[in-house]
Amino acid sequence: MASLLACVIDVLFPVPFFAVSIFYFAVAFVKNPLLPLTNFASFKEKAFAGLWLTLGGISADQTPAELDGLLASSKGLILDVGPGSGDQLRRFSNPQNITAIYGVEPGVTMHDKLRESARKAGLGDDKYRIIGGTADLESIVPALVKDGLVKTGETGGPAAAEEDDLAIFDEIVCVRVLCGVPDQEASVADLYALLKPGGRFVLCEHVLNGHSWAADQAQKFWMAVGWQALMGGCDLRRDTVQTFLNVAKEKDGGFAKVEMNQVDAHSMLTHVVGVLTKKQKKKR
Ligand SMILES: C[S@@+](CC[C@H](N)C(=O)[O-])C[C@H]1O[C@@H](n2cnc3c(N)ncnc32)[C@H](O)[C@@H]1O
Repeated sequence: MASLLACVIDVLFPVPFFAVSIFYFAVAFVKNPLLPLTNFASFKEKAFAGLWLTLGGISADQTPAELDGLLASSKGLILDVGPGSGDQLRRFSNPQNITAIYGVEPGVTMHDKLRESARKAGLGDDKYRIIGGTADLESIVPALVKDGLVKTGETGGPAAAEEDDLAIFDEIVCVRVLCGVPDQEASVADLYALLKPGGRFVLCEHVLNGHSWAADQAQKFWMAVGWQALMGGCDLRRDTVQTFLNVAKEKDGGFAKVEMNQVDAHSMLTHVVGVLTKKQKKKR
């Protein structure tokens, strides 16, 4: 009985998310009636921010517990991809080991709350730096050049930075973000270029469920009735670990270490959680 109830809750959890998202699309429209015509991307950003500032905290409370241990051991220079309003930042529970975190977040409406969450987590403005952009080199590299972390090439612009010079991060953290980037393979390739040899990707992503027929059908159903449009582009059916494995194979013949687990294997929101370690550079 209890497990039947758990299944029903699992399959129906999108209902409140849909309701809140529709509400905030309406709010964004009432406040900015011309915006859908003049700047649809900004209209969607405002609507999604309303949703996430309302439900992001509840969603973060439902994150697989395995992530806590992984982020407790974070150290050095870190790239935090798509932190939203920063509800996961408290999991970096040893900030003294962290040199700085760059949080790349396109949702500018959430930046104030993100900054506040960082401070609460013991990551002041000097340690948590927000980049208003997306998970790609064009957005991230200029901020790193500005802070003197990446050198520009001889011709000047950030695009001219040498590939080896870009690999500066000790760790890149992706929590529930790669479901929503427009081109996952391209973003992962760009993130891969930014990770140091020997550095680690810490992933906690919900993915395609190939284990459970019922969860598979539920994912198909919610995608068909508008999940992606209402949830900021989120695709429930991505094979995210495979994307990382493909990129690493193409660049370096694979990762040095793959330590990924699938949790809640029967859930519609099944997650992959763990660490992928980049190979060290071969000595010449
Ligand atoms: C589902 S929310 C998760 C937020 C946060 N990681 C958490 O777990 O609470 C997804 C976040 O990814 C951001 N996002 C969407 N597209 C992105 C992109 N191309 N690059 C970086 N972040 C992106 C969204 O703005 C949003 O804040």
